[in-house]
Amino acid sequence: MHIVGFAITFGAWVAEAAAGRFRTTRVMDYGLLASLLTGLALAAPWPAGVDLNYPKIGVKLVILVVIGGLLGMGNARQRRTGEAVPRGLFAAVGVLTFAAAAVAVLW
Ligand code: HEM
Repeated sequence: MHIVGFAITFGAWVAEAAAGRFRTTRVMDYGLLASLLTGLALAAPWPAGVDLNYPKIGVKLVILVVIGGLLGMGNARQRRTGEAVPRGLFAAVGVLTFAAAAVAVLW
C-alpha cells in the first residue's frame, strides 16, 4: 500500500504532464496521504528487533511534508486564479516525489 501511494501521486503527476495540463490534483493529495499513513505504520518500532533506518525515514518525512505544502499552495492558487500552477511548482512536486522513492530504494 505504501508503494501504491507513491504510484498514485507520481502517476497522477505524469498524467497531468502528459496531458499538458500541469495542474496539481486531488489524486496527488490522496496518494500523498496514503504514503504518509502507510509510511507511519511501516515505521512503527515493532515487532521487536526490526531494524529501521530512522534518518532515512526522517528525510522522507521531510520531503513528504514539503510536497504536501506545495500541493496545498498549488491547489489554493488554482482555486483562486483558475489557472494551472507555475511550472516550477508543478515540476518540484514530481521531482521531489521521485526523489523520495530514490531515497527509499537507494539509501
Ligand atoms: C513521497 C513520500 C514517500 C515515498 C515516495 C516513499 C517510497 C518508499 C518506497 C518505494 C519504499 C520501498 C523501499 C524498498 O523496499 O526498497 C518505502 C519503504 C518504506 N517507507 Fe517510504 N516513502 C515515502 C514516505 C515515507 C514516510 C513519510 C515514511 C514514514 C514516516 C516512510 C516509511 C517507510 C518505511 C518504514 C519503509 C520500509 C523500510 C525501508 O525500506 O526503509 N516512507 N518507501
